[in-house]
Amino acid sequence: MKRTTISDILKSTDYGKEVTVKGWVRTHRSSKAVDFIALNDGSTIKSIQIVVDPDNCPVTGGSAPASTAGTSAPVSPAGGVTVAAPSLRDVTTGACIAVTGTLVESPAAGQPSEVQAKSIEIYGLCDNTYPMQKKGQSFEVMRKNAHMRLRTNTFGAVMRIRHNMAMAIHTYFHEHGFYYFHTPLITASDCEGAGNMFQVTTKNLYDLKKDEQGKIIYDDDFFGEQTSLTVSGQLEGELGATALGAIYTFGPTFRAENSNTPRHLAEFWMVEPEVAFLDQEELMDLEEDFIKYCVRWALDNCKDDLEFLNKMIDKTLIERLEGVLKETFVRLPYTEGINILQQAIKDGHQFEFPCNWGDDLASEHERYLVEQHFKKPVIMTDYPREFKSFYMKQNDPAPAFSPVSGASSPVSGGSDSASIGYRGAVAPGPTMQGTDVLFPQIGEIIGGSVREESYDKLMAEVNRRGMDTTHLWWYLDTRRWGTCPHAGFGLGFERLILFVTGMQNIRDVIPFPRTPKSAEF
Ligand code: 4AD
Ligand code: MG
Repeated sequence: MKRTTISDILKSTDYGKEVTVKGWVRTHRSSKAVDFIALNDGSTIKSIQIVVDPDNCPVTGGSAPASTAGTSAPVSPAGGVTVAAPSLRDVTTGACIAVTGTLVESPAAGQPSEVQAKSIEIYGLCDNTYPMQKKGQSFEVMRKNAHMRLRTNTFGAVMRIRHNMAMAIHTYFHEHGFYYFHTPLITASDCEGAGNMFQVTTKNLYDLKKDEQGKIIYDDDFFGEQTSLTVSGQLEGELGATALGAIYTFGPTFRAENSNTPRHLAEFWMVEPEVAFLDQEELMDLEEDFIKYCVRWALDNCKDDLEFLNKMIDKTLIERLEGVLKETFVRLPYTEGINILQQAIKDGHQFEFPCNWGDDLASEHERYLVEQHFKKPVIMTDYPREFKSFYMKQNDPAPAFSPVSGASSPVSGGSDSASIGYRGAVAPGPTMQGTDVLFPQIGEIIGGSVREESYDKLMAEVNRRGMDTTHLWWYLDTRRWGTCPHAGFGLGFERLILFVTGMQNIRDVIPFPRTPKSAEF
């Protein structure tokens, strides 16, 4: 008989109808006269209750690999093991079964319906070596069993929400006139300029040819030059945006940064919209509107999973999601942010890392601003040039140098004069129009900027940084011919999932995490 998903069954009021449900056993309780099986098939967080009269429910099937099956089980001709006479006792936690029975209205509270079993077929037995058997398993243990953790309630909820967030992203951009644009994963250029890339090569690493200076010769490599996995699709995304008007990319991104933190992955997914004719104010509007749309989508479409996570993982989750929708994000120039942090230090707050003007903010600083000072999301703007990427739009120099009170070590911009930050905050050094979104619990969730559209200014910055332009000529050409103001951002997809699920570790919001020293599964 055709299987009905548990998600559909729980919506049905077709009581008296015969149904077949298939899934994995969550729990099995026996009493003298009746057995209760909670069955889950992944279509929803909810399990359906199967009520079994042990004397009136034939149990068939039941095979498992020889190494793990019960001792009494004879080896089948196929090499697996068949339980000699399968019984209800073999329907243990983790086993996979098909149940045919009658859908009835449930007398039990908290569930609309249940299935009164007429027959059970065991697809796969599951003995007590099953690693996900125990309730309340630590996330650490589950990570070691990433192949099986997907069958737990928590990971089921997270993965369904992950899917929903991907749908929200595509729907948002489609509805707003953006084109989904595919940028390459293998690249010869380093977009962020941070140099933390994974090389792609077919060269024989045991026999590397080098030139007189000891540099590896790539002429005979697959692409005839050194190539890596992309750290961002932005540069190619800009080519798309300056032709199609508005594009977004959504794909895997790779960074070989040795950051063993709960916020970093070596392989993560990034969403990168890029829009022509967008200024800094409009870019922030887009960032805020987009992220709120995703959060609203989760509240509207993932109710059961969110309620489960709210109960089991984070009691303030739903409240926090609803809170973000109500808040207007703070728009804060970096220079003002530094002033606030300096004031906090004066007032006795201690940070592990320094935060003088010119320092890249650590996550503790970002979280202080968001969670303690403003208590709402912050879009930080107008960062010092020194730790941001070369492509960001440079702010105009300020009329006169004017150090910001409280900033103990203003960076002198060399021969450059100081520049005006957004909304008139005067920065003691050159700034760029970055617009990062900082979120409670997460820190930076979006990194964005207006792009420098002036060929001369961009080239000056490229030269100032001593960048090799060999692999940038095509990017620079966008500024040579028909250049236009444009802007865009990158949202770390897993950081969004962290926020929306209330999970604490980024390794637990992607099915198979890639982190330093870990590429299993
Ligand atoms: O701030 P990032 O480095 O910005 C860029 O790559 C730009 N090219 C984006 C653009 O303007 N098109 O990265 C963007 C976001 C970060 O805010 C963060 O959410 C996420 O990507 N991210 C990571 N997520 C998980 N693991 C990592 N190692 C990450 N590095 C960045
Ligand atoms: Mg960033």
